[in-house]
Amino acid sequence: MVPGEAQGGQGNRRHPLCEFSIIRYNEGVPAKIIAIANHKGGVGKTTSARFLAEALAADGVTTVLLCDVDPHASLTKALGFNPKELKATLYDLFTGSRELSADELILPTNTRGVSLIPASPQLAEVETQLASKLNRERILARGLKPFLDSFTYVLLDCPPALGLLNTNALSAAHHVLIPVSTDIMALNVLPGFEETVHEIQREINPELVLAGILATKHEKTEHARHMLEALRATYKEKLFQTIIPASVNAKNTMATPESIFENGSGSSVAEAYRALAHELTDHA
Ligand SMILES: Nc1ncnc2c1ncn2[C@@H]1O[C@H](COP(=O)(O)OP(=O)(O)OP(=O)(O)O)[C@@H](O)[C@H]1O
Ligand SMILES: [Mg+2]
Repeated sequence: MVPGEAQGGQGNRRHPLCEFSIIRYNEGVPAKIIAIANHKGGVGKTTSARFLAEALAADGVTTVLLCDVDPHASLTKALGFNPKELKATLYDLFTGSRELSADELILPTNTRGVSLIPASPQLAEVETQLASKLNRERILARGLKPFLDSFTYVLLDCPPALGLLNTNALSAAHHVLIPVSTDIMALNVLPGFEETVHEIQREINPELVLAGILATKHEKTEHARHMLEALRATYKEKLFQTIIPASVNAKNTMATPESIFENGSGSSVAEAYRALAHELTDHA
């Protein structure tokens, strides 16, 4: 099922914080693709992709296609699917082994307006199988094209590795959103990934822009507070104003396919992702 209703829009408006503009898209405009990426593991990429999708779709108008670009298939599992039982996954889109209709590839989730292209562990084989293919960095961009008219946004949940899958995601994306948890030495992690983004901009996708850096899993500890201050001082307006708090509610909701706005509605994490969606779409 592809939720086909197109999206109402408010036209292009500048994002208040950054030099780029994240916009709410007009009817008939193809989806904007946002890669949620960081080569560091466990920083909240999958959680942010899912809850941001649910927050964006909460207006009942916006439609979001989540795309699980990680062979661990955490997003696919979190949304209630067993990767072993799927008839088609992102692997099939990458290898082009057979013609795929939207109905075969795109699954409805329990949240209205949110759909999923699922992953399975087989996706890892793409790294070697396609290593010598010409234009291998653009396969995902080409594969997603037929579906873009049916959605407002496509959110790519990227794997924690700098391989062909990540390169494909960043090559297909209009924007990259970089989650970083404040429980790690965030400032040691980000420059390496920023360099990857710059390289993709230089070599493959000059249109890629930074949507922003998102502080996640933020605890009320001294260390986390220092990390957040350091992030603010270094990245200034590139850091989203919205801070995602650490909460057991995030973990619990990820264990069920129900939307955080049903399960954990009113929780600090749900409200933070709602604020992020507003910040991203300039609705605040
Ligand atoms: N706001 C939060 N509060 C508490 N725990 C969180 C929060 N966000 C994510 N987590 C937990 O942190 C862990 C890592 O989160 P997640 O899987 O989203 O990160 P990731 O960057 O996608 O990881 P990977 O790199 O392995 O794909 C998970 O156990 C998740 O439940
Ligand atoms: Mg993940």
